Amino acid sequence: MPATQRAVVRLLADGGLHSGEALAAALGVSRAAVWKAVQRAAAGLGIEVEAVRGQGYRLARPLVLLDTDAIAASLDAEARRRIAAIEVLDDIDSTNSHLLRAAANGAASGLVCLAERQRAGRGRLGRPWVSPYGGNLYLSMLWRYPLPPAALGGLSLAAGVAVARGLAAAGAEGVGLKWPNDLHWRRRKLGGLLIEVAGEVQGPSQVVVGVGVNLALTAGQGAGIDQPWVDLAEVLGVTTPPRNLVAARLVDALSAALVQFGCDGLGAFLDDWRALDAYRGEPAEIIDGDRRIGGVLAGIDAGGALLLDSAGGRRTFAAGEVSLRPLGAG
Ligand code: BTN
Repeated sequence: MPATQRAVVRLLADGGLHSGEALAAALGVSRAAVWKAVQRAAAGLGIEVEAVRGQGYRLARPLVLLDTDAIAASLDAEARRRIAAIEVLDDIDSTNSHLLRAAANGAASGLVCLAERQRAGRGRLGRPWVSPYGGNLYLSMLWRYPLPPAALGGLSLAAGVAVARGLAAAGAEGVGLKWPNDLHWRRRKLGGLLIEVAGEVQGPSQVVVGVGVNLALTAGQGAGIDQPWVDLAEVLGVTTPPRNLVAARLVDALSAALVQFGCDGLGAFLDDWRALDAYRGEPAEIIDGDRRIGGVLAGIDAGGALLLDSAGGRRTFAAGEVSLRPLGAG
């Protein structure tokens, strides 16, 4: 995004009315250039800017923009020690892709990346992740382990527990997990995780944990989501969730969990995962390519695989292969 557009959005973020003259002075450009930057930013970022005749511009909804210093200042002391750096980007294809590239170039374990929007946000099983500007959280964390990649299978469930803990620490009550690691609230999807692991067969390995949480989505922005969804604004009962604080709670919880996983493995997270299981005991179907397998959800085994009691007996499914659709009444 060009610098003038970025700067004009940051000036307008407070939701107040800003005259073209004041914006021009603050940016050191002409009023015509301000007008052009406002139009382009609005069209390019999908944000609504009102032009009030003779008075100036304001955003239809104020934005709480991400701020590296604000996030760092809100971290707990241990997380501050665990984290290498926090990078905030305006615009990227995908924060996971960005950290995978950084990892290949030798980036340090504990690097965190957040973006205001993603042009090609990625979900599990090759699905897109709706990633409009300025409203949600798109956060990825790079972690390096001496372990082989095959030892990191359970990490996806541990990371889901961590994000649920982080959201609870930010005040969100009643957030549960849908296997393997979707975050649900009252049967609607609040967020999800995409874990990408690479490395040598014998180790070491590097993992990028990507977290997407809906914070404040308009109905129009959410129209592209293929299942019932909810945002943190609704969960918390506020108009604009404190994005930087929520980001900090997620970094606290996720970095702690990544350290603990390296020492104790998935076993340390199983009780919490089971306590957060939002759909245990409910009818569901497992979608495996073209096949549908119906049954009743029976929790997870010690390796984090899903247990389903089907007509043919108890079956086990590994994450990464299949998706799960609860069939219970809403
Ligand atoms: C899912 O539920 O399908 C997982 C969604 C994961 C989305 C996050 S947003 C930050 C990171 N970057 C991506 O491209 N994806 C993850």
